[in-house]
Amino acid sequence: MLIDIIAGARPNFMKVAPIIHEIKKRQSLGSSIEFRLVHTGQHYDKKMSDDFFDQLNIPHPDVNLESGSGTQAEQTAKIMVRYEQLLMEKPCEITLVVGDVTSTMACSIAAKKLNIRVAHVEAGIRSFDLSMPEEINRMVTDSITDYFFITSETARENLLKAGVDSGKIYFVGNTMIDTLLKNRSRFQQPEVWNELNLSPKGYLVMTMHRPANVDAEHKLKEFMFKILDHSGDLSIIFPIHPRTAKVFDRIGLFHDRLHLTEPMSYLEFNYLVENAMAVITDSGGITEETTVMGIPCLTLRDNTERPETCEIGTNELIGTDPLNIPPALERLLSGNWRKGEIPALWDGKTSPRIVDVLEQI
Ligand code: UD1
Repeated sequence: MLIDIIAGARPNFMKVAPIIHEIKKRQSLGSSIEFRLVHTGQHYDKKMSDDFFDQLNIPHPDVNLESGSGTQAEQTAKIMVRYEQLLMEKPCEITLVVGDVTSTMACSIAAKKLNIRVAHVEAGIRSFDLSMPEEINRMVTDSITDYFFITSETARENLLKAGVDSGKIYFVGNTMIDTLLKNRSRFQQPEVWNELNLSPKGYLVMTMHRPANVDAEHKLKEFMFKILDHSGDLSIIFPIHPRTAKVFDRIGLFHDRLHLTEPMSYLEFNYLVENAMAVITDSGGITEETTVMGIPCLTLRDNTERPETCEIGTNELIGTDPLNIPPALERLLSGNWRKGEIPALWDGKTSPRIVDVLEQI
């Protein structure tokens, strides 16, 4: 059975890595399961893509669709046309997509229209915020998915409410956490550690890239002022996404405690996170990693598709009003933050559970 594994953008790479490693392991034990790794090219910079392949030991993609940047529709269209062409030349039996990026949706549509079955890893999560492109990607993908691999019971409830047959839902856990736990002992101190003389719990890590937060210059400035004014003497390390970097270039904000770096590799970024006092972010995946590492996380969003990171883990939704930042930081600095626990099945063994199912179908 040939399975296409689709990877397009940075948050996909850590989700496909352990599935690929598990399939290879089974192959070496005689399993007939085969895969073809398809990189859509949505993320193409070395620091957004190649470094992750190298560090996570992901094999070179069998196919690169080289779709590159563009508007949502342009990217979707390019990926669909190119993936459809590949499938017409050499079809697979199952297309396995992960997460919620444009590539996830585009490849599932192209596959399903050719009557190829779709498996979705991280299915069923919902922010119920249709202003996020990711929410539309999740809804569309799940509406044509055949096998739903889920990370939480909430995801199951969402899918059942949408009318999905319970027999198609597999609660397997979280592949991103497989990658985190496997690589935890390999985390690498980034150069910035010595350059800034950082010490454990002596700094904050920040990431921001959501269009709603970063595209308006005044909003981003307001966030930064509030964070800088209320973080005591902590350094703030901000590995900056290309979208956000463009806005920072325009606003020209400098501060002696704010340190912007290029996007970091996986092992370096998570070294910083594991040793940080806290993380401030608008990412979804990072809230899962901080939950597992027990690091306080302040999320600058009004909603989350990962409620377990708040209900069980260390994440708090601070919202998108910069005025909410000072009280949250005061609470953090006074040591008053929930310790959190680890959600069910986020145990590093999700990929074997997924491949078990794939072998049965
Ligand atoms: C995408 C995902 C988002 C994910 C994020 C992580 C969608 C809808 N969004 O958003 O869920 O959290 O990736 O990074 O799929 N760019 C580069 N180099 C690259 C890639 C992009 O410079 O390697 C630039 C693009 O030209 C564009 C901007 O970054 O200006 C945004 O890239 P895009 O892929 O459109 O979406 P992200 O914001 O990265």
